[in-house]
Amino acid sequence: MTRSETLTGRRQFLKMLATSPFLKYAGLPPLLAGGSGATVLRALEEDDGIIGSLEEAIEVMDFEPVAKKMLLHEHWAYLATGVDDDATLGWNHEAFSNYQLRMRRLVDFSSVDMSTELFGVRWKTPIGLCPVGSLKTFHTQGEIGAAKAARAKENMMMLSTSASTAVEEVNEAYGEPVWYQLYTRPDWEGTYKLIKRVESAGCPVLVFTIDLLAGRNTPTLERALGLEGTDAAFCANCHAGLTKPMRAGLPPRKPGTRREPHTWEYVDRLKDATSMPLVLKGIVTHEDAELAVEHGADGVIVSNHGGRGSESLRSTIECLPEVAAAIAGRIPILLDGGIRRGTDVFKALAMGADGVGIGRPYAWGLAGYGQDGVEKVIDILHRELELVMKQAGATSITEMRRGRYVMDRRTGERL
Ligand code: GLV
Repeated sequence: MTRSETLTGRRQFLKMLATSPFLKYAGLPPLLAGGSGATVLRALEEDDGIIGSLEEAIEVMDFEPVAKKMLLHEHWAYLATGVDDDATLGWNHEAFSNYQLRMRRLVDFSSVDMSTELFGVRWKTPIGLCPVGSLKTFHTQGEIGAAKAARAKENMMMLSTSASTAVEEVNEAYGEPVWYQLYTRPDWEGTYKLIKRVESAGCPVLVFTIDLLAGRNTPTLERALGLEGTDAAFCANCHAGLTKPMRAGLPPRKPGTRREPHTWEYVDRLKDATSMPLVLKGIVTHEDAELAVEHGADGVIVSNHGGRGSESLRSTIECLPEVAAAIAGRIPILLDGGIRRGTDVFKALAMGADGVGIGRPYAWGLAGYGQDGVEKVIDILHRELELVMKQAGATSITEMRRGRYVMDRRTGERL
C-alpha cells in the first residue's frame, strides 16, 4: 500500500466514524467522541494526515510527513530524493512485496530471540542505524540524539564521515565507540589520518562505502533546489565554508577530486592500514561478493545507498540472494534500503542477512521529535519484528533460516 493509499484509508475510517451511531461510546479522543458527525467531518477537512504527537505514531511511515513538515525545504529535498527518476529509491521498499511469508502454526513462541552476532559482539536486535550525513540539519540534537536513542534501544550505530558531530563526541553519547563509515579523502595521507583518528577513538568496525565513487545524477534534487539555489550566506549557517549557492545539494563525491583509483587494490590498502574489521557497503552482485571475500573484507552491506547511488532498478532485497549464495556464511552480511516494516526485517534475515540497517526512517523520527522520535521508530520496528517472528513460528534468526519462511511470489521458489 502506498503512503497516499494509507492516508485515504484513514480518511475513510474517520468518515465511517463520523456517521457511526457508536461514536459516543467508542472511548475515542475528546474531539471525536464529543462531537457530532458534522464535527468529525469538519475535523477531517482540517486533518492534514500528519500525527500531532509522538504517541499518535503507529507505524514508521507516520514519521515521513512529520519530517517533511518540520524540515527546511532544502534539507527535506536532500533527504527524500534519489537519482534519475527516483525509481530505485521507491523500489527498494516495494520489492519486499515480491516475497511472501510461509507462516507456520502452533509453535511455542514464549521466548523470542532477535539477537545477532557481528564481529564477536552479540546484539540484542538485528536492526542498526545506517550512516546518514549531517544529522544536525534534521534536528539540533543531531548525531547525539541518534546515538542516545540507539544506545537506549541497544542498536548498533554507524557514523557517517559527513557527520555534523565529531566521532569522539558521538562515542561518548553512545557510551562506547560506534562503527565508522568511510568516505575517503582526496589523497591517501588524508584518508590514512582519518582512519588512524577513528581507530584511536576506538571505533570497532570501518565501513567503506563503494557505491558513489563516480558521483550521481540528482535531477529531482536540483529541480527542488531551483536554478538560483538557496542563498549561500543562509546555507553557510550550517555548512561551514560554503561560498556558492547549494543548487545541487551537498556535493558528496565530485568526480576528479580523488587522486588514486578506488579498485580492489585500494581495499587491500585499507586492510593493511587498519586493524579494524573492514566492511564493504554497496555490494549487490555475487561477483563482487566473491571478490570481497578474496580481498579480505570482514563483512559486506548489500546496499544501493538508499536508491541514491545509481538507478539500477535492483532493490537490495532482490540483490540479497545472490550475495548470500556467494558469501555462503563466510563473513557477515547486512542489508539496508527500504526497510519500513518488521516483516521487511524478517524477510532480509530469513534470506541470509545477519542484520539490517535503517536510514531515512530514523532521520524522519529525529526531524520530528529528536531522540524520542528515533526511539519510537526503533520501538515500532522491534514490536513488528517480534510479532511476525511469533506469528510465523520462527523464534530466532537460526530458525528463520532453517524453516525456509520466504517464498518468491513470482516463481514460487522457497528462499
Ligand atoms: C551521502 O551519503 C548521501 O547519500 O547524501
